[in-house]
Amino acid sequence: MDLKTLEEFYLSRQSCREFSDTPVARETIEEICRVALLAPSAMNAQPWQLIAVVGEKKADVLRNVQRLGMNKFASKATALVVVASAKSGGLMKVGEAFKENEFVRNDLGILTAHLVLAAEAAGVGSCILGWRNEEKLREILGLGKNVLIPEIVALGYPAQDYPVREKKRKPLSDVLTVL
Ligand SMILES: Cc1cc2nc3c(=O)[nH]c(=O)nc-3n(C[C@H](O)[C@H](O)[C@H](O)COP(=O)(O)O)c2cc1C
Repeated sequence: MDLKTLEEFYLSRQSCREFSDTPVARETIEEICRVALLAPSAMNAQPWQLIAVVGEKKADVLRNVQRLGMNKFASKATALVVVASAKSGGLMKVGEAFKENEFVRNDLGILTAHLVLAAEAAGVGSCILGWRNEEKLREILGLGKNVLIPEIVALGYPAQDYPVREKKRKPLSDVLTVL
């Protein structure tokens, strides 16, 4: 793939805030997650777990991400994929915990990026939801208190004729310094 093609792909990925009624098949959700797991991580520790909430717990997770009128659109998502640190996170030996935990949030962010891009490649719309109450989410999902949940990814097919928005990004000159 050349850079222009990759740029076009990146331009096609956008936060989807209007999902259609067509549900995403479980196999498609699994495939998106499987491909996303090719993400790099510090020392290849892969300190993560993904919880695709599609069943009855979805209502509780929705309430968590929809406080104060936020993220109403997520109600129509087929799945809310919770991006969390690995179950063993809190049980690691002190030395290991220090070494690995330092990078866990970075690793989970990179995994999330891979997840939304994999969804795009599968024709599935996505929106990262960072608005959440981690402590309550851990309770809802029965996760230990050391499990981090930096974000959730809402997945669903975009509504028909959902427009591709123009990207608003800082110009390179504001961001890049070449030394
Ligand atoms: C860490 C993170 C948290 C986000 N949280 C939310 C959120 O709670 N609700 C929402 O609608 N969008 C959320 N977004 C999406 C951003 O608003 C969006 O990526 C940004 O405006 C750029 O638009 P684009 O994704 O369409 O290119 C989040 C994005 C990131 C990376």
